Amino acid sequence: MAGALSHELHQPLTALLAYTRACQQLLAQGESGERLREVIDRVVGESQRAADIVSRLRDFFRTGATRLERLWLRELLSSSASRFAAQAQQQGVELLLQPAPPSALWADRLQLEVVLRNLLANAFEAAAERPRAERQVRVSARQDGATRVCITVEDSGPGISAEMEEHLFEAFHSSKASGLGLGLAISRAIVEAHGGRLWAEVADRGVFKLVLPIEEGVAHAK
Ligand SMILES: Nc1ncnc2c1ncn2[C@@H]1O[C@H](COP(=O)(O)OP(=O)(O)O)[C@@H](O)[C@H]1O
Ligand SMILES: [Mg+2]
Repeated sequence: MAGALSHELHQPLTALLAYTRACQQLLAQGESGERLREVIDRVVGESQRAADIVSRLRDFFRTGATRLERLWLRELLSSSASRFAAQAQQQGVELLLQPAPPSALWADRLQLEVVLRNLLANAFEAAAERPRAERQVRVSARQDGATRVCITVEDSGPGISAEMEEHLFEAFHSSKASGLGLGLAISRAIVEAHGGRLWAEVADRGVFKLVLPIEEGVAHAK
């Protein structure tokens, strides 16, 4: 539990530290106007996000409780992918988001964002093992029958061997020097609580698939 939370919180807390340091720097330069306000707004946003993650994950691990709402698949995917835009640019990773079907999920937004963030973070780490020109991460989705959608997160990294695949989703299983090995374990628990499935394919590049139930007969107007 403590380990799981620290894993999920690492990203917003790292961002908070960077933003507050930027504030200190701006103040030291005599800044008191718009630029400072912008950075402080980001601090507020990331703090709110960290607080939300703590309370939602705490609820989830205590009771398995989820807060369900109608969620547009397209919006979920684009907001999750856009959180990685800066990292993509920095690391020279080509981040592709294929057009998704106009489906609606009945799901807990924060929990599914945690799942996508974990899958994308892993995909970026895997892609970064390749030379700069070969780094790609792709997010796609397709309807799977009338009642489900299948989301795929692929990367151009080394992929998953049959041997690795056995232990991938176990808590505290990590091949990374500083990895906690909790991302996939948490993600699978969240997806299964939504009546879905999450698995990795054995391949020479990363392929993670996520099947979730959709609201039948509901489609995005756009
Ligand atoms: N996209 C991927 N490509 C290759 N290996 C992966 C990928 N995603 C996950 N893995 C493997 O699964 C392990 C567990 O992942 P995860 O639960 O997210 O923990 P962590 O990222 O902290 O190691 C990773 O250490 C890595 O060995
Ligand atoms: Mg991970």
